Amino acid sequence: MKKILFLFAVCLLSLNPVIAQELQSPNSKLKMKFSVTEDGTPVYKLSYKDKEVIKSSKLGFDLKDEKDLLDGFKIAETSTNSVNTTWKPVWGEESTIKNNYNELVVSLVQEETQRKLDIVFRLFNDGLGFRYIFPQQENLGHFVIKEERSQFAMTGDHTAFWIPGDYDTQEYDYTKSKLSEIRGKMEESITANISQTSFSNTGVQTSLMLKTDEGLYINLHEAALIDYATMHLNLDDEKMIFESWLTPDSQGDKGYLIAPAKTPWRTIIVSDDATDILASKLTYNLNEPSKIDDTSWIKPMKYIGVWWEMITGKSSWNYTDEYKAVKLGETDFEKAKPNGKHAANTEHVKEYIDFASEHGFGGVLVEGWNIGWEDWFGHSKDYVFDFVTPYPDFDVEELQKYAASKDVELIMHHETSSSVRNYERHLDTAYKFMNKYGYNAVKSGYVGDILPRGENHYSQWLVNHYQYALEKAAEHKIMINAHEAVRPTGIARTYPNLIGNESARGTEYQAFGGSKPNHVTVLPFTRLIGGPMDYTPGIFEMDISKLNPDNNSHVNSTLANQLALYVTMYSPLQMAADLPEHYMMFLDAFQFIKDVAIDWDKSIYLEAEPGDYITVARNAKNSNNWFVGNVNGNEARTATVKFDFLEKGKNYIATVYADAPDAHYKENPQAYEIKKYRVNSKSKLSQRSAPGGGFAISIIEAEKSEVKDLKKL
Ligand code: NOJ
Ligand code: CA
Repeated sequence: MKKILFLFAVCLLSLNPVIAQELQSPNSKLKMKFSVTEDGTPVYKLSYKDKEVIKSSKLGFDLKDEKDLLDGFKIAETSTNSVNTTWKPVWGEESTIKNNYNELVVSLVQEETQRKLDIVFRLFNDGLGFRYIFPQQENLGHFVIKEERSQFAMTGDHTAFWIPGDYDTQEYDYTKSKLSEIRGKMEESITANISQTSFSNTGVQTSLMLKTDEGLYINLHEAALIDYATMHLNLDDEKMIFESWLTPDSQGDKGYLIAPAKTPWRTIIVSDDATDILASKLTYNLNEPSKIDDTSWIKPMKYIGVWWEMITGKSSWNYTDEYKAVKLGETDFEKAKPNGKHAANTEHVKEYIDFASEHGFGGVLVEGWNIGWEDWFGHSKDYVFDFVTPYPDFDVEELQKYAASKDVELIMHHETSSSVRNYERHLDTAYKFMNKYGYNAVKSGYVGDILPRGENHYSQWLVNHYQYALEKAAEHKIMINAHEAVRPTGIARTYPNLIGNESARGTEYQAFGGSKPNHVTVLPFTRLIGGPMDYTPGIFEMDISKLNPDNNSHVNSTLANQLALYVTMYSPLQMAADLPEHYMMFLDAFQFIKDVAIDWDKSIYLEAEPGDYITVARNAKNSNNWFVGNVNGNEARTATVKFDFLEKGKNYIATVYADAPDAHYKENPQAYEIKKYRVNSKSKLSQRSAPGGGFAISIIEAEKSEVKDLKKL
């Protein structure tokens, strides 16, 4: 449906006319103006409710060994379009997603070189997306990007929730500061990681969450990152202008492109209500529809894993401590002396399978099952794992049979140790091995510096690798949960077998020194904008020294906060990360993890403030049941939940899992209370959350007779 939009042209200068094109969002609250300046530089600006959000910002590219695509342009043609459709994701926060935008395509020609560049703008009610397209043409074929120069000019010294720009890791705590304070806080924000490459004192990563002094929320990110380098943002803190800063390859180049080509979308989500940022589906809408026709094998899942015991240092991934180095094919593990701490052994895995089966978990992840963990990182080792040879104490066939008999699936683990060529070498065989033994999902990992040496986790070559692994997995009907890979940009719409990513500081850091108690009130505003996170919640024992006397780390969260994460951190893949024995100690609280849904018809963000709190209600798919989660920041706070999202006239049993009055993430994290109430659509709850705390509520439809003895809320 082609339709001419509200579009006008004004002549601003009589000598050199500057043509401004205006695009409005469907509800007219957002307005984008595009123009080409006197010297032929493309610029855009954005306003919300007639207030400037992005000041006049330049667009273009520095190219290597040829004239830049920055200025000297003329508009050759413009076209407009409107789209208003819906689509159904395979899994998600909503069963139906609205895709409604107005589009402007500007076709530019650089007069001197006659090279063509198109810029596509899509304006939704919740924000703007724009991308560059390099059409097939005579004067541009192969080209190398030195830098993309997309600007996002801020209107003031906003508050930002940021992590340091880095080519190799996103595993940082968030810093909240004014834009002008980023430079001064950069050094302390760069905490240690096995692989890290920062590049600028004012460089930050996306998704970047901003708040203006007037209370406007702005989120900057990208969508559909395919065959291109990951974008960071570098701030000119005098002018308050962010500019794109792409991740270089080993040569320092930022992208090898061949026309026709297109960049990812650059996204700006805007609202004066923080809950709109969390509810936005703009990132998915800017991605292509699913390329997988039969998606029946893609299933959301709750899982447990032989994992936390290694992360905390209670157990080990490796089988022996005897060898300083191993050579696959030459080292004989049958002859090695076991270290007695190897968790991925047949007997122990069976215990996990039993626990999963008894408590209704679909999957059991097993790490450390395959040979090679003795010297797996820090050595730039190419042939590090083969992904098909188990340690002598791990019987793949027997465990598969055992798991199947208990209606549980084993989840494969492929730690690549960032030896990416090695992984690609083995990928097909590894996926076939999974198919043969009935593994439907794999957790992959990219710990350490990338091999080939000099490459970065987020460069174009690596982005192409993660995509290759994902598409190949789809051919084998395998779901992927990739850790340390590039942060998601909504690609799960196109490849819904991407059911998880880590790509941020996950729960593991609670065993590596602890994360900030309000970390989980920021993640949904940043990392989750591009897609779900395998955050691995559900830790009930916060004192890590109880698992490993040599580890003094503390989980900076209350137990009730851990429960709430199953609702606030949306993911089709949710782990119950703690040890089974800890769940057995708190069976009443564990019940929430067992009950909570993982796929939803509807999600309603009730209240939110980045860094402070998030409360969301979600309606389980094909059911009348609801689940509510509240996570709280550093200060105690009382939330008010109105149950008006419930169907009128129906009765429900609400089970509230909340912080006890004396709970505190550090001093008293395991203090919780469980209360049951009778609720309907008129009910209202005032509930206090402790510092680093929260609450979780299951709301299950019930007959009148079942609720008559319960206290009414
Ligand atoms: C880092 C991952 O985030 C973690 O979950 C995994 O256990 C280790 N790498 C080992 O692969
Ligand atoms: Ca990690």
